[in-house]
Amino acid sequence: MKITFFNSKVYDQQFFQSENSHYGHQLNFMEVPLNEHTAVLGKGGEAVCVFVNDTVNAQVLQQLAAAGVKLIALRCAGFNNVDLQTAAKLGIKVVRVPAYSPYAVAEHTLALILTLNRKTHRAYNRVREGNFALHGLVGFDLHGRTAGLIGLGKIGLVTARILKGLGCRVLAYDIRESEEARAAGIEFTSLENLYRQSDIVSLHCPLTPQTFHLINEASIAKMKDGVMLINTSRGAIIDTKAVIDGLKTEKIKYLGLDVYEEEGDLFFEDLSDKVIKDDVFMRLLSFNNVLITGHQAFFTTDALESIAHITLQNITDFEQGKALENEVLPDK
Ligand code: NAI
Repeated sequence: MKITFFNSKVYDQQFFQSENSHYGHQLNFMEVPLNEHTAVLGKGGEAVCVFVNDTVNAQVLQQLAAAGVKLIALRCAGFNNVDLQTAAKLGIKVVRVPAYSPYAVAEHTLALILTLNRKTHRAYNRVREGNFALHGLVGFDLHGRTAGLIGLGKIGLVTARILKGLGCRVLAYDIRESEEARAAGIEFTSLENLYRQSDIVSLHCPLTPQTFHLINEASIAKMKDGVMLINTSRGAIIDTKAVIDGLKTEKIKYLGLDVYEEEGDLFFEDLSDKVIKDDVFMRLLSFNNVLITGHQAFFTTDALESIAHITLQNITDFEQGKALENEVLPDK
């Protein structure tokens, strides 16, 4: 099947081309994002393959349908950027990659925690300049500290196991409590208690109307003084301005982010020769106890291989008229 890829980067081309040797699809890589101006480029192919920041709204879907597109294959887990109702009305199927590597994201979470705590990012620069002074680099033992995880699904559970391995006490809050997690020694508790007791709060729940700005002025006030806050989930779970206030009062002593609520205008692009106009983001960058990565927690070879494999299998299943295991359907 001919597949038009939008927003494709060198690494997408590399991993999809390699995996496609098992499938034999015709891959057409576009660097432009999918939106109202570019949808016409989908013409001539039955499938388009898109990523987290592509626009798949009603207008785009109508253009894709007119161009003969029958399948939207998301090469990611989230599908908040797709108008599923309109896709269904137009007879366009939507498939995604629900899970590829929880280890990739959990291990990146650990990288943020360890770097912020032991300040290896600052030590690296100091030593390169011949500055071997230790002031300002003091950390704390993770062993014996309490970590509170909000959302204990696939990624949360792997993160919890890693933290248990370091000797942390792990508390969790989830709308569904799992026996598997309990058996691993994780203590489910209320959000209030998690905020009150945790030295580290790490977010692993999806972005939903219930979790939008879950971390806000009121919830930050309930946290321990000097808390470490980590978000590798979705940017808008945090009210960024409230977090900046928490950093200013030193209520929050460490902040690690892989996601940001306005990341669509920034992440995945090289803007190093541009002026960044987002003042909130620039304020975050000005704190020496804030570490931001550009939505790279998923970015391991294992995850990329898995994403390419599952996406191409989804497309092959569609082509062969098989049941679509990873289809995303609109809410009824
Ligand atoms: P999952 O679906 O396995 O787990 C999510 C958990 O959150 C579930 O246990 C669910 O019950 C819980 N949850 C839902 N609503 C909640 C609420 N209101 N309060 C507390 N818990 C709630 O998902 P998985 O694979 O663990 O991924 C978690 C999130 O990580 C994704 O939704 C996505 O936003 C993010 N992610 C980030 C990546 C990155 O590169 N930074 C890559 C992949 C996922």
